[in-house]
Amino acid sequence: MKYLEQMDIAGRKVLIRVDFNVPIKNGVIQDDNRIVQSLPTIRMALDKGAAVVLCAHLGKPKGKPDPAYTLAPTAKHLSDLLNLDVALAPDCVGPEAARLVAGLQPGRVLMLENLRFHAGEEGNDPEFAKALAQGIDVYIDDAFGTAHRAHASNVGVTKFVKECGCGLLLEKEWKFLGEALANPARPYVAISGGAKVSTKLGILTRLLDKVDALIIGGAMANTFFLAQGHEVGASLVERELVPEAQKIMALAAQKGVKLLLPVDAVVGPSPDATVTGGVFDVAALPADGMVLDIGPRSVVRFTEELAKARTVMWNGPMGAFENQAFAQGSMALARCLAGLADAVTIVGGGDTDAVVHKARLAEKFSFISTGGGSFMEFMEGKELPAFTALEACGA
Ligand code: 3PG
Repeated sequence: MKYLEQMDIAGRKVLIRVDFNVPIKNGVIQDDNRIVQSLPTIRMALDKGAAVVLCAHLGKPKGKPDPAYTLAPTAKHLSDLLNLDVALAPDCVGPEAARLVAGLQPGRVLMLENLRFHAGEEGNDPEFAKALAQGIDVYIDDAFGTAHRAHASNVGVTKFVKECGCGLLLEKEWKFLGEALANPARPYVAISGGAKVSTKLGILTRLLDKVDALIIGGAMANTFFLAQGHEVGASLVERELVPEAQKIMALAAQKGVKLLLPVDAVVGPSPDATVTGGVFDVAALPADGMVLDIGPRSVVRFTEELAKARTVMWNGPMGAFENQAFAQGSMALARCLAGLADAVTIVGGGDTDAVVHKARLAEKFSFISTGGGSFMEFMEGKELPAFTALEACGA
């Protein structure tokens, strides 16, 4: 793999794929972590004397221009962060984008409008990829968050540029996650939470080959409660996945992996409720309530296990943490992990990142990945198309 640090890009037009898919409400960026994380790469390219063209996607505008998904607030925010004017091209391809790229001087930054305003991006259309590469000398991928997608801006484009390389953020994620987890210090404990088992089946199964203990929380634990023979009232649950949950439980036992499920839960009428409906043992959940957080006995059980860990990987909150009434379990785990001085602590996925930031403990963690789906696929051991394309490009 060729890395940006080693490349001579002075005076060249460099297209950098960044992941600026950040939450924006009424034109205001709610969490700029992904943008901030890409600054070292952009600054390095500028310091090396390149003319920098940035491309990114925002949301899912379904292949058509949609003002709701403009990157204008992002370009403005980036301008402020860099203290440098960042122009926004009205489209990512076409005559106007080509004109702006052609006129871009070294030391300047041009941002292209949302890639997903064209169906060719997600379709990895070669014509679209070629148009994106027009006037570009060097391509740098720095978007770990989209590394699991095979799109034109991270796969197709590599065939139409002379040289490709890996940006600092992509390199950091690749090396840290790859090295920390290839040979993790033990005990290695994984925490898996979030809403659905269906999106996590692959990773849960694969993790059983790697970890010493697996903690499961969040609404996905409800399916495991059913598998244990408990009823879950009005909780979110995937009944059809009970056999899969049973398989995972059996596999864990077979492989000698300690599987820890919540033993009690905070229940409420809905995720928006302002007060909880109380704490219940998982064997006695009320018929009309929803499980919305792990209970205090579960927190004690999980934190006791985590205290022994030397590597912890956490993906997915323990409950409906956006609501203060159901945030206690996730916050308790964030505090516990932040206090593990001798352990490597790794967080991935937007919600878990939000928990850690909400707890104001982000700097206490060893590593917070900018990836969501890509983090999960990487942890699953899947080959990510972005890396394959960079390697094939001779990077
Ligand atoms: C993300 O937010 O996880 C990445 O930017 C990928 O976005 P996508 O799931 O819309 O492809």
